Amino acid sequence: MRRKIIAGNWKMNLKYDEAKVLAAAICEGEGTYRHDVILCPSFLYLTALAEILKGSKVALGAQNCADREHGAFTGEVSAPMLASIGVPYVIIGHSERRIYYHESHAMLKDKIDIALAHGLKPIFCCGETKEIRLDEQQENYVERQLEDSLFHLSEDDIQRVIIAYEPVWAIGTGLTATPQQAQDMHHFIRTRIAARYGRDIAERIIIQYGGSMKPDNAAELLSQPDVDGGLIGGASLKADDFKAIIGAV
Ligand code: PGA
Repeated sequence: MRRKIIAGNWKMNLKYDEAKVLAAAICEGEGTYRHDVILCPSFLYLTALAEILKGSKVALGAQNCADREHGAFTGEVSAPMLASIGVPYVIIGHSERRIYYHESHAMLKDKIDIALAHGLKPIFCCGETKEIRLDEQQENYVERQLEDSLFHLSEDDIQRVIIAYEPVWAIGTGLTATPQQAQDMHHFIRTRIAARYGRDIAERIIIQYGGSMKPDNAAELLSQPDVDGGLIGGASLKADDFKAIIGAV
């Protein structure tokens, strides 16, 4: 049985004090959680939150990392820097990075390689836009994202990656994929992994769903056989909503 992992992607939200209060509130409820939990705050808050989360089972993730290891890249934060402060996870290829910062498949491949080389576990995001879905090309599109940025990995390395299917049309819009749409795509992703790496490996990979997951739709989404958790944006900023999702089915 795959365990389910719920990750909170706080994006560019919360002041320092608010972030600390929210992290402490999430830790408090952990006795009741049914799933593993990762919090992804701003880079700025990672060290302070590591102190708050110490001794709890709640893990930390960064929202991005550079496609280079070090050097003259003003404003960037590298995977080795994240590893040096003990951050275990990093989100790579979120659609907001792809769309607003023009991150290409090739750049994301480099980020994945560098993150893995430094012992980080990537949460790799994929997912189609509304236009692509209206054209019924979502499977081809997601397959291409996987092939171009992930499927060069070795059998060992692919098993250190979490995949997050996030249909762009559902992110922050209040539109959620139906449980069947999510299941269909997650199943498709797993069959592509199986074709490339074999059934055993495909069965072990965690595939999260992201896109307007909320307390009132989480249980149904999370009960789909191939949905192994969630990458949560808006609802991760409210302690009660996020806890309700972690406590769902
Ligand atoms: P949302 O964001 O839950 O606000 O739709 C999800 C994400 O972007 O990871």
